[in-house]
Amino acid sequence: MTEIIDDREGFALGVCYYPEHWPRDRWEGYARRMRELGLRYVRIGEFAWSRMEPERNRFTWDWLDEAIATLAAEGLKVVLCTPTATPPAWLVRAHPEILPVGPDGRPRAFGSRKHYDHASPIYRAESRRITTEIASRYGEHPAVVGWQTDNEFGCHSTTRSYGPASRDAFRVWLERRYGTTDALNDVWGTVFWSQEYTAWDQIDPPNLTVAEPNPSHVLDFARFASDTVAEFQEEQVEILRRRSPGRWVTHNFMMTFSEFDHYRVAECLDFVAFDSYPVGQVERAPFSEEEKLRWVRTGHPDLISFNHDLYRGLKESRGHWVMEQQVGQVNWASSNPLPAGGAVALWTAQAYAHGADVVSYFRWRAATMAQELMHSGVLRHDESLDRGGEEIAALEFLGQATTVRPSPVALLHDYESLWAYDEQPHSEGTSYWRQVFLFYRALRSLGVDVDIRHPDHDLSAYRVVVAPALQLMSPERAAHLGDVARDAAVIFGPRTAYRALSGRVHEEGQPGPLRSLLGCSLRNFDALRPGMLVTVGDHAIETWAESYTVHEGEAILTYRDGPLAGDAAVVRHGAVTTIGAWSDGLVTEVLRGVLDARQIAVTPLPEGVRLARRGDIVTALNFNQEAATLPDGRRLEAVSFQQWSV
Ligand code: GAL
Repeated sequence: MTEIIDDREGFALGVCYYPEHWPRDRWEGYARRMRELGLRYVRIGEFAWSRMEPERNRFTWDWLDEAIATLAAEGLKVVLCTPTATPPAWLVRAHPEILPVGPDGRPRAFGSRKHYDHASPIYRAESRRITTEIASRYGEHPAVVGWQTDNEFGCHSTTRSYGPASRDAFRVWLERRYGTTDALNDVWGTVFWSQEYTAWDQIDPPNLTVAEPNPSHVLDFARFASDTVAEFQEEQVEILRRRSPGRWVTHNFMMTFSEFDHYRVAECLDFVAFDSYPVGQVERAPFSEEEKLRWVRTGHPDLISFNHDLYRGLKESRGHWVMEQQVGQVNWASSNPLPAGGAVALWTAQAYAHGADVVSYFRWRAATMAQELMHSGVLRHDESLDRGGEEIAALEFLGQATTVRPSPVALLHDYESLWAYDEQPHSEGTSYWRQVFLFYRALRSLGVDVDIRHPDHDLSAYRVVVAPALQLMSPERAAHLGDVARDAAVIFGPRTAYRALSGRVHEEGQPGPLRSLLGCSLRNFDALRPGMLVTVGDHAIETWAESYTVHEGEAILTYRDGPLAGDAAVVRHGAVTTIGAWSDGLVTEVLRGVLDARQIAVTPLPEGVRLARRGDIVTALNFNQEAATLPDGRRLEAVSFQQWSV
């Protein structure tokens, strides 16, 4: 394989652009204005299939040739996309069986986007065909520096399809995994409720059941769908590698999206990009009404940085990109207020500080037609520079370097554990992301930089490893974490190792193969409905409380009341600490103790104020809509950032 050309020139800005939306006579002016605004990269083409191929095998590339030439004439670098997020009407009419089928068993219709089943053999062939065409035409174009595959895999709940294409492929996937239905029956525990299978064609996707489906069935369907997205992309990437030598390939993932294993799907990419919509995400996040009101004009600082840390950690090769950065109002949340003045600059600085190499704004000019005509862009409908555009024009940056150093602290994240956790959350208000976020937020409030890594990664660079919600545990993973605990302090959260990778509980109970490492075993768990509280030390515990029988090591905190009174809530065994209760205060106190013991400097920060280090540059960020003071006395204006070198 040819080496990938590294086209980076330090931290850079870009924009998402749709030349096909605008009259030809606007293109030169737009390209010039992009350059004048300091933008370097322009992403195009992800939804333009009907303009590339208006009918089967009739290709109309002239407009795209010209669009790329106009951008190149201003020295802009083009990121071209495979247009498979939007199969055109003629294709859907000829092959309606490519449409995805929802969990309600009904096929979804043409008329928006993402209307395909990743497992459809017909759509796979179409995806390879159009990828081959576009890559053959532009793969070696000097202005094309890289590729984006498709657009936001899984967007609009399209990862899992429940129709014949996915059903058939799921059966093949299961047969490959288990060999015999007896083996599958054993792993899934199908003796329960007489679910035993005697032939592969008896197995369907886990939708439309009368009561809840078998959780191991659901877990395997999630794994299957995730592998299918990965294979769908790999087929495109393989073609791009051959036809577009030296160019990098990425994909624009979504914020805290759960439906596939991003580590697996990112394997074939050169680096990872994600789409950052901080304000829209506040509406969708499991925040209280009060928190939503507080953060709805800026986004929640830790929710945004969590995504940077997550996506940076998906690949170690180089920094990540923000392929689509919110630049004004969005149109898709339940309400869509204007971002606060300064927010676009703040998000850009935060992206830089958390390791991004490029921030590319969505979108150039606000659409004058169709679904997104209420969505803003860098330019307003009337082509004047909008508020976000003004902030881009005024951006001043200290940091330019693209180096990223590991943080001393890693937080472990695993999509399979997420699927298992969320399939049986057991209590209102619990979820995998909420539990992970509890620990992440505590670390960030202590001013600590965090790398988010997979539990099976090499973790030897870290001094503290936090594993908030590793629900699935194998003997191999347990042995690896045991090795990690020889050098690093390791902290586990509630429901750790509740099940084996099969989704079943370990026959010896929890935490199965982690028992000797944790020095304790799970005794009882208490799911607290909203409004119920119990107490540990001085901390009110909400949502989840579990207790442990201590075998080696010591209970460092116990329950003071409720059914678990007197039982261990937090256990320490050598370098390993297990926390069984949900509470911001408790988690922060225990983490702080561990960080202090490992001599990792903490800087407790006011709410909404955050610090992030990249190379020698420190960035301080204030997400509050009033001024704030840092512990060292520096003042930050409302919704602003400052950078300095150390
Ligand atoms: C993203 C998507 C874009 C656009 C944008 C609007 O999820 O990739 O195409 O729809 O949202 O905010």
